[in-house]
Amino acid sequence: MNVLSDQEQKCQSNTILHRVAVVSESGQMLGYGRVVSGPWDPGTSPGDFNFVILVAKEWRKSGIGKHIYDHILQFSKQNGAKRLSTFVYETEQEQLNWLERLGFAKSIHTFNSVLDLQKFDPHSFSTTLQSVRSTGLKFATLADYPDTDEMFSRFFDVMMELTSDVPNADRMQFPDFDTMKYICKHMAPWEPSAIQLIVDDHRWVAMSVLTRMPDQWYNCVLTGVDRDYRGRGLALAVKVKSAEYAKNNGGQFIRTYNDSTNDRILRVNQRMGFAAQPGQYTLDKMV
Ligand SMILES: CC(C)(COP(=O)(O)OP(=O)(O)OC[C@H]1O[C@@H](n2cnc3c(N)ncnc32)[C@H](O)[C@@H]1OP(=O)(O)O)[C@@H](O)C(=O)NCCC(=O)NCCS
Repeated sequence: MNVLSDQEQKCQSNTILHRVAVVSESGQMLGYGRVVSGPWDPGTSPGDFNFVILVAKEWRKSGIGKHIYDHILQFSKQNGAKRLSTFVYETEQEQLNWLERLGFAKSIHTFNSVLDLQKFDPHSFSTTLQSVRSTGLKFATLADYPDTDEMFSRFFDVMMELTSDVPNADRMQFPDFDTMKYICKHMAPWEPSAIQLIVDDHRWVAMSVLTRMPDQWYNCVLTGVDRDYRGRGLALAVKVKSAEYAKNNGGQFIRTYNDSTNDRILRVNQRMGFAAQPGQYTLDKMV
C-alpha cells in the first residue's frame, strides 16, 4: 500500500497513471502493471508512456505478462501514446528477450556508480582545487547566499540550463519552478550547504548537487559546468568538493547516475574512484 500511495504522491493533476493487477480466485496477486505519462519521477515528454510489468516468479511463462502488456498498450494508445518505453537491468536477459520479441529496441543505457567515502581522500585532489583557485575562481555553496526566493530562482535556472545538456534530456520532463521548490523544500531535506558552486565574480559557473538519503547515503543529482567554462577541469573540482562535503557530514557512500555516452562525467567519476554498478537499458517501441 505504501508503494501505491507513494506513486500517487508523485502525481500532478495532468499526470496519467494507470495500474492493473492479475489476481487469482483466492485473491493472490499474480502480476502487476503500471504505466505513467506526464509529470512524475521520472517525468516523460508528451506522447511518451513508461511502463513496468512484474509477474510472480512461479507464474512466469503462462501468458500473464503478455495479457498485462496488451492492456497497457491499449490504454496507452487510447490516451495519446506515441512511444512506449520501459527500463530493464542489463543482467535480465530473459526480460530483454521478451521485450525484443514484442518489438521493443534498446535505446539508452544508464548506470549508477558508487563512491565509498572511506576510501576517498580529498587531499589527493588538492592540486586540482588549487589550480581552479589560481585562475581567480572561488568555491562556494548555496548556504553562502540568503535563503530567499530570488536565490532559489537563480538555483533553478542554473539547474535547468545544465540539465538541458545531459544526454537524452529531451526524453525527460523537468519540474516547473513551483514543483521544484516543493520537492526541494518539502520532499527531501533542504541542505543548501550540500550544493557546491564554483563562482567567477558573481557568475555561478559550475555546480554539484547532493541530496542526503537515509543510511548515510548521498545522491549526486547533477554535476554541471557552464558551457563557456567546460574543458578546464571544473567538473572534477566541483564534484570533489561534493564528496569532501559528504565525507565531512557523516556520509558513507555517494551514488551517481549517468548515461553511458556521457564520456566527460564518466572520466570524472573514474578519477574519483566511483565503482560502476550493473546498468539498465531503456527499450522503446513506437505505437
Ligand atoms: C559533463 C560536464 C559536467 C563536464 O564538464 P567539463 O568542465 O567539460 O569537464 P572537465 O574539464 O572537468 O573534464 C572532465 C574529463 O573529461 C575529459 N574530456 C573532455 N572532453 C572529452 C570528450 N569529448 N570525450 C571524453 N572525455 C573528454 C577531460 O579530459 C577530463 O578528463 P581528464 O581529467 O582525465 O583530463 C559538462 O560537460 C556538463 O555540464 N554537461 C551537462 C551536464 C551533465 O551532463 N552532467 C553530468 C550528468 S549529471
